[in-house]
Amino acid sequence: METVLSGIRSTGKLHLGNYFGAVANFVQMQHDYNCFFFIADLHALTTHPTPENLQANVRQVLVEYLAAGIDPDIATIYIQSDVPEVTELYVYLNMNAYVGELERATSFKDKVRANPNNVNAGLLTYPVLMAADILLHRATKVPVGKDQEQHLEMARTFANRFNRLYKTEYFQEPYAFSFSKQLVKIPGLDGKGKMGKSEGEHNAVYLSDSPEVIRKKVMRAVTDGGPTVPNQEKPEPIQNLFTLLSAVSAPDTVAYFEEQYNRCEIRYGDLKKQLAEDMIAATATVRERIREISADDDYIEKVIRQGNEKARESAQKTVADVREIIGFRKR
Ligand code: TRP
Repeated sequence: METVLSGIRSTGKLHLGNYFGAVANFVQMQHDYNCFFFIADLHALTTHPTPENLQANVRQVLVEYLAAGIDPDIATIYIQSDVPEVTELYVYLNMNAYVGELERATSFKDKVRANPNNVNAGLLTYPVLMAADILLHRATKVPVGKDQEQHLEMARTFANRFNRLYKTEYFQEPYAFSFSKQLVKIPGLDGKGKMGKSEGEHNAVYLSDSPEVIRKKVMRAVTDGGPTVPNQEKPEPIQNLFTLLSAVSAPDTVAYFEEQYNRCEIRYGDLKKQLAEDMIAATATVRERIREISADDDYIEKVIRQGNEKARESAQKTVADVREIIGFRKR
């Protein structure tokens, strides 16, 4: 079985966009691949979180992924900082990652522009740590979004460079991977673009939001004055509501509102009420699981221990091989 690996940023709560996109993808893949999913808490240190925030975020992400259907008995789910082998491999890979190429990475340049007062070396070598994450388990399939493609290309460069330097074929090239081609893109509630937390608190519906909060957010979604001619093309804010509706509602509900729209008889208030109720229903099970798992410290501990063991076994093997390839004395 091929190995799939993905890192999850440990910054906060999952929203519907993550759920219907990335997480649903992970949940399907765990049955067909040898999957490693980890919480990237070392990467999170580039922005200097407090110990309390760091811990709370890691826990929240873990709980939400478990609630969404990652099965710790099938996939390996672990916390990056629990596996010290990754930092060892990171040191080795750093020796043949060139400062010039790291400085040219788009994500680095974006971060420098956004935070000129925090250009730390960890930011510069972020792609090296990410390559170490992947190569540590010799994963070849990496389910990530478009914004991570360049990092994957760098991981391939580092892997190939290591192989060339030591005249080996030890590392295989990792590639971006999408399990299901027809992933739904979930738009936000602010009338433009996709759902995301950087677009503002009201744009995204979180898995942990209570039904009341979901209703409030949906009722505030951006709309327009309504259609004026039959069968008129929908402007983006309205199309977005219909896209959300098709993600969470029954097909005949969608058809009903389509027809109302096409006849210029639609009442957006009714559409939003229906959308909110269907969102609440679609997330009810996950919301309940989040509540249950958060309250069960013993279970969380057990999952962390189990994931840690599986991840370290694989990591220790790679690091031992790499030390030998590099030429360190065998002990
Ligand atoms: N950089 C990824 C992101 O921002 C997170 C990540 C860290 C990752 N290490 C990884 C993703 C390894 C895939 C593989 O989303």
